[in-house]
Amino acid sequence: MLEQVRDIIVRPSTEEDVPAMIAIYTHHIQRGLGEVDFEPLDPKDIKSRRKNMLKHRLPHLAAERDGVIVGYAYAVLFRKRPAYRYAVKNSIYVHPDHLHAGIGRKLMAALIDACTEAGYRQMIAYIDAANGPSISLHEAFGFERAGLLKGVGYKYGRWTDSLLMQRALGPGQAEPPPNRRALRLWAE
Ligand SMILES: CC(C)(COP(=O)(O)OP(=O)(O)OC[C@H]1O[C@@H](n2cnc3c(N)ncnc32)[C@H](O)[C@@H]1OP(=O)(O)O)[C@@H](O)C(=O)NCCC(=O)NCCS
Repeated sequence: MLEQVRDIIVRPSTEEDVPAMIAIYTHHIQRGLGEVDFEPLDPKDIKSRRKNMLKHRLPHLAAERDGVIVGYAYAVLFRKRPAYRYAVKNSIYVHPDHLHAGIGRKLMAALIDACTEAGYRQMIAYIDAANGPSISLHEAFGFERAGLLKGVGYKYGRWTDSLLMQRALGPGQAEPPPNRRALRLWAE
């Protein structure tokens, strides 16, 4: 596993990565593994979303192997209301030809580190309850099952459940937020 992971670079994504990220996302949506979202993605929307996230110190990361984008990950605010400004929601997608090769693990570690460093205190994931690989990946990083939302999705002719998972970042709720950066950024 270590040998496989060594040649993978995780770095902040750039605008040039957007087409490759859309291709990865579209593959997974068509296979029905990821989120319930059948709207084709518009590169312009992704580009402006990326810029907006970077402004708020929300990481948008790409994994690269031999110059090819093999996965990406990002975090958005859990909710837009100010009270929730220390909680983020994650997303991770790995290229279909590179699954179970340690890329998701590398992206998740970098995403957790970047969000912790930025001052966020909780990371939340909504996962299709049938998505075993994603649930295992999250469990491997200490995410705990926080709830099951029944029948909230509908795809391929059946209702789907969403598993809500959560893990603390840094001291989590054990301490008040000492870091004012996230607060200040919210006010900007
Ligand atoms: C979920 C996903 C991101 C995992 O990425 P990955 O690069 O394949 O995962 P890794 O190789 O880093 O594996 C890390 C851990 O995840 C779990 N995992 C990954 N693939 C798995 C599989 N096919 N079956 C069971 N567990 C799996 C294991 O716990 C694994 O640890 P291990 O190697 O010690 O067994 C990837 O499968 C993916 O992109 N899926 C489609 C999109 C998606 O569902 N994204 C998440 C939306 S919530």
